[in-house]
Amino acid sequence: MCGIVGYIGHREAYPIILNGLKRLEYRGYDSAGIALFDGEDIKLSKTKGKVNDLETKIESEISTNGTLGIGHTRWATHGIPNDVNSHPHYSNSGNLVIIHNGIIENYESLKKELIKRGYSFTSDTDTEILINLIEDVKLKENVKLGKAVQIALNQVVGAYAVAVFDKDKPNEIVVAKLGSPLAIGIGDNEFFIASDATPFLEYTKNAIYLEDEEMAIIRRHKDVEIRKIKDDSLVNPYVQELQMNLEQIEKGGYDHFMLKEIFEQPSAIKDTYRGRLLSKEAIIKMAGVEDNMKRFLNAERIIFVACGTSWHAGLVAEYIFEDLVRIPVEVEYASEFRYRNPVIKENDVVIAISQSGETADTLAAIKLAKSKGAFVFGVCNVVGSSIARESDAGAYTHAGPEIGVASTKAFTTQITLLTLIALRLARAKGTISSSNYRLHLLELEMIPEKVKAALKSDNLIKKIADIYKDVPNFLYLGRGYNFPVALEGALKLKEISYIHAEGYPAAEMKHGPIALIDENMPIVVIATKKGHYDKIVSNIQEIKSRKGRIIAIVTEGDTTVKELADHVIEVPETLELLTPLLTTIPLQLLSYHIAVMLEKNVDQPRNLAKSVTVE
Ligand code: M6R
Repeated sequence: MCGIVGYIGHREAYPIILNGLKRLEYRGYDSAGIALFDGEDIKLSKTKGKVNDLETKIESEISTNGTLGIGHTRWATHGIPNDVNSHPHYSNSGNLVIIHNGIIENYESLKKELIKRGYSFTSDTDTEILINLIEDVKLKENVKLGKAVQIALNQVVGAYAVAVFDKDKPNEIVVAKLGSPLAIGIGDNEFFIASDATPFLEYTKNAIYLEDEEMAIIRRHKDVEIRKIKDDSLVNPYVQELQMNLEQIEKGGYDHFMLKEIFEQPSAIKDTYRGRLLSKEAIIKMAGVEDNMKRFLNAERIIFVACGTSWHAGLVAEYIFEDLVRIPVEVEYASEFRYRNPVIKENDVVIAISQSGETADTLAAIKLAKSKGAFVFGVCNVVGSSIARESDAGAYTHAGPEIGVASTKAFTTQITLLTLIALRLARAKGTISSSNYRLHLLELEMIPEKVKAALKSDNLIKKIADIYKDVPNFLYLGRGYNFPVALEGALKLKEISYIHAEGYPAAEMKHGPIALIDENMPIVVIATKKGHYDKIVSNIQEIKSRKGRIIAIVTEGDTTVKELADHVIEVPETLELLTPLLTTIPLQLLSYHIAVMLEKNVDQPRNLAKSVTVE
């Protein structure tokens, strides 16, 4: 979590850093701060709150001149969100200044040592300990800043993306990475640093993504020198050309990124299968799968590891893979898996699912799986992300940047990609007939249009949201493929409207949750025609006879549920296996409208951050 930005070059650094922080605010928004070098001294301003609060404060507090600077937007780990704990942090001498995304785990022992050596601390952060450790090394060993950072980081246990500069050497910034992302933008005689490439997209399309345990000394008007932190060896920089454009990271006329991303789903899903699904030839082509077909076909088991919404996509994939590929599947919370001493065999295939590709628990889970010899396949959205790089092979969802903290298009594109993989493997294994295979490809190709049709219920959903926005609890029920969708619907409502919601397999209701049902309880039931329809109709009747208020997601033209439910929202008909791609849409919109009506911060819900790079 936390976003970091930096600039060194010939332009004014302040506007670049400020706008960069606004773009990175999805990574954390407890506090923000900027440090600039104005030609003589470091000018630093920071505050609890959002980047907008910093903007209001900063210009009355410091001069914002200077062509070198660093900035930070924080998701608090060590120390509550307040002004003092905000980044950047000075060293005791005031000469060095740092921003940090990550956690220093051995901060207590380092702090004790530094106190013995006469250092004092004003904040509760691990970051202030790190900058003083760097200062101590620099003075003690009489080395340059880059060397001091390297020696200090070799004493650190934890995760970091850091940027440091020294007011006595205002022509360089030193950055380093382990476990948290760090991109360096290479401009014309200027350099940018950021947690992702969005802060510098309008200035350059050339970027270097540092690998774990690498550091870089970025010299004004000169070069970027990359070294391994452990052994000081030089690394040849690999400069990538960015495929993103500015339009993709702006709201494009929508009130919120979340709404934009919900409405982007038809094109995002198409982008996921573009070039991979060739329905005329009845082929699915995915290099990551083809190149490793043997590993997939020899697998005795597939284990999905993920967190949050991505874990829900894994649950949908469990149904799809077992159904199509006839292979045993397990779906694991990465955070549990990594600490559970799980039984992993060499011919297991582990599929890690992550939008950001930076989720710390998922990353640790795949490292564990690899260490036991399993083959790891990454399904990520962010190109070049840590999980994508750590995996043995993988495929990107190509959903485009997802900025709203609540995942929407990430979920549907993950399911699309996983469906493609399952279909390809089923074909290779012979567990699907050729006619059924063709039918699936054709139906999958029609999903974007059907998502568009599902989005047309937006106004109806808004009216339903208005009726229920003030209730304290919601239940979400679904069966089979749509049980994970019920979980996802409940998560969406919780995270952006702060209304308590629970998702359940519909048949489990009578084993406990039914006790909650009375005339005040809204129950969202996914009751599409395919799959357990009669059973779910019975569940709806059970709710009705206890006076629960039913919001049903049904297949177009349904009449049975219409008679029982208080509200029905229709989605087009499709294959049962593909229904989650449609039934998810109304649930996303329902949570969105309720949150807007409750005046919550939809894109930046409290206590959350887009990529959870701490465990
Ligand atoms: O980037 P990832 O997909 O690995 O993120 C996993 C979860 O943190 C994420 O899905 C989270 O649950 C979202 N806020 C859900 O909307």
